[in-house]
This record gives sequence, structure tokens and C-alpha cells, in this order.
Amino acid sequence: MAIISSKQNSEEPKDQTQKSRGVRERKNIPKASPKPEILQPVATAEEEGKQDESIRPQRLADYIGQKDLKGVLEIAIAASKGRGESLDHLLLYGPPGLGKTTMSLILATEMGVNCKITSAPALERPRDIVGLLVNLSPGDILFIDEIHRLARMTEELLYPAMEDFRLDITVGKGPTAKIRSIPLAKFTLVGATTRVGSLSSPLRDRFGLIQRLRFYEPDELTLIVLRTAEILKTEITEDGALEIARRSRGTPRIANRLLKRVRDYAQVKKYPQINQEVASEGLEVFNVDPKGLDWADRLMLTVMIEQFNGGPVGLEAVAAATGEDSMTIEEVYEPYLLQIGYLHRTPRGRVVTPAARKHLGYE
Ligand SMILES: Nc1ncnc2c1ncn2[C@@H]1O[C@H](COP(=O)(O)OP(=O)(O)O)[C@@H](O)[C@H]1O
Ligand SMILES: [Mg+2]
Repeated sequence: MAIISSKQNSEEPKDQTQKSRGVRERKNIPKASPKPEILQPVATAEEEGKQDESIRPQRLADYIGQKDLKGVLEIAIAASKGRGESLDHLLLYGPPGLGKTTMSLILATEMGVNCKITSAPALERPRDIVGLLVNLSPGDILFIDEIHRLARMTEELLYPAMEDFRLDITVGKGPTAKIRSIPLAKFTLVGATTRVGSLSSPLRDRFGLIQRLRFYEPDELTLIVLRTAEILKTEITEDGALEIARRSRGTPRIANRLLKRVRDYAQVKKYPQINQEVASEGLEVFNVDPKGLDWADRLMLTVMIEQFNGGPVGLEAVAAATGEDSMTIEEVYEPYLLQIGYLHRTPRGRVVTPAARKHLGYE
């Protein structure tokens, strides 16, 4: 059964009106400083390395939160195991760092199969995907990250592969060209994307399960921090973990990263354990505020308040005024600000809410 989301619609009127509306003077806008990376939800090179594999949960039972997703997958796993079949193709979508790759690896473990991991940008030539597909064993999981970025030819090869476990390859050129079909093992495709609206409908329709990952609640992130601290053999109190959780933008990857930074801080300052005070002191050093906003979020909100009277303001205008890339704003900054109610999206553009004004000291 497919559970499909409402299609994301980020179309907005272009703002030519901003200038004529009169750009306000810059007053409290923070000065540019080197871009902080600590709150970026995408993985750093270090985090993609071996060391972080130890903190990635291995089994469904260790995967904290995402109750709906886990419920659906538990049933899917039990059912396909019962029938001795492979899992249905699964599409996971949601902001970076919420556990899409982790879930794919867990599925393979739970099903007792292999998981091959790749990403759409690595599948530029059709032969890249052909090589992967023909080497799969029955039940194997093929994980394709950033699946909305597949090249057209690659995507078209996937259609019969997903539907009929068959590869259709054109041999030769021109009028003598023939199509050769190669049978494939019954595999499971797990696709991950941050932009489900950018997927073509033929591709989306070939997934039997479409699941959204949501931001984590502070209590869930607290459990994740406690679990990681135990693996890293770091002494932490529950309120210390909660303090880190609150500043992690609903994102496990960021929670784990903040924990590591606070752990360094505690070690250098010779604190025997991380409690709430140590955590908040340590994160203050890294410019992570109590709501998990960093310099770039505050800049964006401040610019919207000071230059655009709080909105509505279009994405492109915000991008131009902050010098930030509009895709980054849409995918990295906005989802969390929308989630905590600091920003609203209206048909006429983005609006800063009273809660955000209050947080920034405007009210
Ligand atoms: N539900 C979870 N429980 C515990 N840790 C998690 C969970 N989801 C993600 N993590 C942690 O966060 C990190 C990022 O998750 P990942 O699956 O790589 O995110 P995504 O692929 O969605 O960007 C992982 O290394 C893992 O340690
Ligand atoms: Mg990933």
C-alpha cells in the first residue's frame, strides 16, 4: 500500500516588489562570520567514515522514534519473511540526517540480506546501474540515495527492473538495434530523497511503500544522545542529554555531533561529566543557541524582519539579501524553522512569526 504525501509545492511569485516596497536600513543584522558547519544536517567526511558506523543503530529495536515508519516496516518485514519473498520497493523521504540510510541498513539486517549503497550522482552512465543490478542476489537491497537526481537513461532502465525484475538493453544502433532482456534477481530498491516532489511520477509509482521521516522530539533525541554517549563511553546526565537534544534541530545526526563537541569541551575543561550546565556552556562556545539556531538562521530571520518587514517575502529575495543559496535555504534552514513555528509559508512568500521575533528579542 502506498502512503503518499501531498505534493510539495514551493512555487512562489517572483519578487520584484521588494525593491519598490523600499528596502529598510540594516540595523541589527549580524555581521558576516565564517559559516558554521556544526548545525548542518548533511554528513561531514568524518561522519561518513568508519568511526561513526559504531553509533549507527543496527537493529530495528535500537532505532529510536519514527513510530509510524517502524510500525509499517515491522509489518512489511514479517509479511515478506512469512511468504519467503523480497520486500516491496521502498521510498524514504525527509530532511537530511533523520535516519534514511540507517533504516535501509537495518532492513537488510532484519531481512538477512545484503545492502548495496549508492547514490544517484554516482549512476551517471547507464552501465553503472546495469553493473549493480546484475550482481544482486535474491532479496538484496539496493539503496539509492538522492534518487531524485537520477539521470533520465538510468531512471528508464529502472522501470522494468523494479516492475518485472528485468533489464531491457538496447544492443546496436539505428534500424538494426535490438532490445535484449536480462532477467534480474528479485531485489528491493530503497530510494532516499530530500525532495519527494522532484521525483517523476512513473518512478514514484513503482514504489510499493512511500514513507516520510519526521523530525524527532526532544525526548527521542535525548534517548539517542544517551545511547551514543554510552557507546562513546562518555559520562552524561539525563538533563545534559536533554540540553543537547533541544539544540539539535530535531535531527539525530546533529545531536550526535553536538554531543561530540560537548564531550571535547568537558574533557578540556576537566569536567567529570556532562550535565545541563556543561552542555549549555559548551554549545554557547559553538554559537548554538538554546533553540538550536545558529548564526545563519538568525541572519536569515533578522534580514526578513529588518529588510522585508517580516514578510511575506519570496525565497529568491531572501537568498539575495543573505547571500545564501536558495536551495540551501529551502532544504537546510527552512524545514526546521517551519517545524518550530518560526516561519510560515504562504502563497505570497515566507512570513516570520511572532515567536521568532520574540526569540530574537524584537518583542
Ligand atoms: N532513529 C535513530 N536512532 C538512533 N540514531 C539514529 C537514528 N536515525 C539516525 N541516527 C543517527 O544519525 C546519523 C544520521 O543518520 P542517516 O541514516 O545517515 O541519515 P540520512 O541518511 O537520513 O541523512 C546516523 O549515523 C545515526 O547514528
Ligand atoms: Mg543518508
